[in-house]
Amino acid sequence: MSRESLFISENDIASQKQYINDINTHFSGRLTYHIVTLGCQMNVRDSETLSGMMRDMGFAQAEKEQADIVLYNTCCVRENAENRALGNVIWLKELKKNHPDMIIGVCGCMMQEKGVAEHLHAQYPFIDLIFGTHNAYRFPEYLHRILFERCRVADVVASDGIIAEDLPVMRSEKHSAFVNIMYGCNNFCSYCIVPYVRGRERSRRVEDILSEVRSLKDAGVMEITLLGQNVNSYNGGGSEFANLLRRISDVGIPRIRFMTSHPKDLSDDLIAAMRDVPNVMPQLHLPVQAGNSEILRRMNRRYTREHYLDLVNRLRDAVPEIGLTTDIIVGFPGETLEQFEDTMSLVEKVRYDSAYTFIFSLRRGTAAASYPDDTPADEKSRRIQRLIDLQQNISQEILDAQVGKKEIVLVDGQSTRDAGYICGRTPRGHMVNFPGNVELLGKLVPVQILSAGRNTLKGEIIHA
Ligand code: SAH
Ligand code: SF4
Ligand code: F3S
Repeated sequence: MSRESLFISENDIASQKQYINDINTHFSGRLTYHIVTLGCQMNVRDSETLSGMMRDMGFAQAEKEQADIVLYNTCCVRENAENRALGNVIWLKELKKNHPDMIIGVCGCMMQEKGVAEHLHAQYPFIDLIFGTHNAYRFPEYLHRILFERCRVADVVASDGIIAEDLPVMRSEKHSAFVNIMYGCNNFCSYCIVPYVRGRERSRRVEDILSEVRSLKDAGVMEITLLGQNVNSYNGGGSEFANLLRRISDVGIPRIRFMTSHPKDLSDDLIAAMRDVPNVMPQLHLPVQAGNSEILRRMNRRYTREHYLDLVNRLRDAVPEIGLTTDIIVGFPGETLEQFEDTMSLVEKVRYDSAYTFIFSLRRGTAAASYPDDTPADEKSRRIQRLIDLQQNISQEILDAQVGKKEIVLVDGQSTRDAGYICGRTPRGHMVNFPGNVELLGKLVPVQILSAGRNTLKGEIIHA
């Protein structure tokens, strides 16, 4: 596919906007909506687009129980994510009994899974709308059909993926924002379903990203997080990721983060950019998945334990204060106790600020689905519990070591626990609670760290 044909044409986008206007003319102020978002930041950002479309239709947000339109943006990365989505949707049937005009829609990654959309459409007549990730930009057209023709719509396209620019967006946060830089994944880690449901890697154009970042800056956004399944393989019209990062940094938003980085593609140039560009925060999510090279090979991760540890050393040499976080899968098919011990020892060596840990979940259609798996479930649970305990101790030690430091905190909310307290994150990403006024929301404030709790720090504002 040529690069240009990746992009949905301006005409097609304009016709979706026409559907939005038409709906607005007939229904503005008369309907409300609610979106439930499961899964990762990609889905969060997609839901912000769906929200933006419905805002432009003249609809207000409402609680799920009262809303006229309820959308479920689903995830299928692990079985429990999928069960949660299904359970939620089936429960909506009850809601609809009291609210027969309610429009129920299901979208997102799970709909891109082979056979799932067809199954839901056939089995659950109370679902009015089904669409996938590759055709989500056509939501206005689908809703238009439902509102004007009172029919059910199910449309999911199998596709390598597209890029739709210039869609409406309603951001969920005021001072921080997600910015997609690329979509899809080409890595085909043997356990993972994402490449099947999100399509091939495709990068947005540099100028489209920069203009989005500029408008966020004009709107007073203080922090952006660049999103991609593998941001290190960004290549939008000849610009590589480190280069893109420098250009984004020049726009002047005070804080920039990005995720996710694949260790196999993390370049020296990116390490240099993290060291040299002041508004790139000293924080990196670098999923390791396993600490044993043989398991990594069978996961198709294409790096070894040694390569990963070397990367960590080079990152810490360049950015000594860097906070690392990770994802780890326990109980990959055939993982022996010894191989698991390598994951434990890697975690002890790297000392992550935090780690997301998962028990391997078999995904139909992936390579690992056919790997023999003879480790009993209770043994896998014991392993993950040991890993969680180890990581908790390390996280606590790292948090304790922050006490006494002075940090610049970006205030992003009020503390839920202590009245009169506000909260925000340090450059490294630790959450700090401190006494303060809500007028400081969205401001960078110097804070003295006084103590460490279980997951957060406590401090006080330093008055000059
Ligand atoms: N693109 C990102 C992560 C996407 S999914 C990356 O490559 O890091 C988020 C995390 O879910 C993965 O890092 C992995 O740890 C976990 N995961 C993915 N598939 C899984 C599976 N089948 N079973 C258990 N965990 C899985
Ligand atoms: Fe999945 Fe691997 Fe792609 Fe991440 S890099 S989305 S884990 S296939
Ligand atoms: Fe889930 Fe899709 Fe993200 S499968 S983890 S929501 S890309």
